[in-house]
Amino acid sequence: MERIHIFDTTLRDGEQVPGCKLRTNEKLVVAEALDQLGVDIIEAGFPVSSPGDFRSVQLIGEVVKNATVCGLSRAVANDINVAAEALKTARRPRIHTGIGTSDSHIQYKLRTTREDVIERAVGAVKLAKSYVEDVEFYAEDAGRTDNEFLAQVIEAVIKAGATVLNIPDTTGYCMPHEYGAKIKYLAENVKGIHKATLSTHCHNDLGMATANSIAGVEYGARQVECTINGIGERAGNTSLEEVVMIIKHRLGHLYNTGIYTPGLKSMSEMVSDKMGMPVQPNKAIVGANAFAHSSGIHQDGVIKKRDTYEIIDPAEVGVDKSSIVLTARSGRAALAYRAKEIGYDLTKDELDVAYRHFLVLADMKKEVVNEDLHSLVKEKVYAEV
Ligand code: KIV
Ligand code: ZN
Repeated sequence: MERIHIFDTTLRDGEQVPGCKLRTNEKLVVAEALDQLGVDIIEAGFPVSSPGDFRSVQLIGEVVKNATVCGLSRAVANDINVAAEALKTARRPRIHTGIGTSDSHIQYKLRTTREDVIERAVGAVKLAKSYVEDVEFYAEDAGRTDNEFLAQVIEAVIKAGATVLNIPDTTGYCMPHEYGAKIKYLAENVKGIHKATLSTHCHNDLGMATANSIAGVEYGARQVECTINGIGERAGNTSLEEVVMIIKHRLGHLYNTGIYTPGLKSMSEMVSDKMGMPVQPNKAIVGANAFAHSSGIHQDGVIKKRDTYEIIDPAEVGVDKSSIVLTARSGRAALAYRAKEIGYDLTKDELDVAYRHFLVLADMKKEVVNEDLHSLVKEKVYAEV
């Protein structure tokens, strides 16, 4: 069984969401919770970006007990010097440095040449290495970078001392088979790759971030960069809870993570609450509807045996139990089940009456709640039967 390292960037890439700024004390609470959840690396911020971010990285370094604490920098000497200074408090510091490698970034953003990019990348890694042992290099827009050139860059930065190689699909462009093939190409063609860890960092512009990250793992990546609830720039990053549960449920014979999965739901709620960013109800694993059943056919199955319509036991991710939601699509089994939950063990005749009245009510209301059920049983069923 191989360990997949979980690198959480909720406090850096996740915090780049417009309108989602966290105060330093909120970041500390989130960082401590991530540490308890069992993430291996916490990307705490981008220290050169503002004095507030610098201070947050310093303080997170003080409070985090187990995880590696990472600070982002561009391949710029001042960024790296400032990141190193901020990380002095951390027990296990990591500097994350890098530069754009796609032709688009090289030509239009950096306005330079491939040779210069390699030179700057190597210089940045060497400088970071003079401060800390653990240096991660990112090849920004690796998703759209030609594989041969990407391999040259990666080989050069490994020689310079990089221990982790981040291959970001910065624009969420890759298809899973392409991203997997990219990781495989690097694993097979870069000299010295066995000395380092390949990492995925996928954005969700086409809704493929999680699929791409998993493809990366299947072809040799041993670190996944992700955020709680998948928050992040534009359409977001890979969602931590999805990756962890995929590894646990579908790839558990090959890999594991150090994540305490019953902590996932409360972690999701904390991040959503502090960032003021609601989780979409149908979000996998942590959405409000992830374990809710509202159609009669599904409800009947789940009541008879939960796994007819659920592949994960809700308790495994910290959700109390599956919920049977009463709507006009619900059947008798669901109504009897919910009535029993609140203390009414209805006979067959009572249930027939209850169901007739229930359908009238359910057609008027989106959802029939316990209060409605109490009145329905007391005022209609017991009065008629
Ligand atoms: O998406 C990206 O390329 C990044 C890098 C800065 C790692 O977030
Ligand atoms: Zn990113």
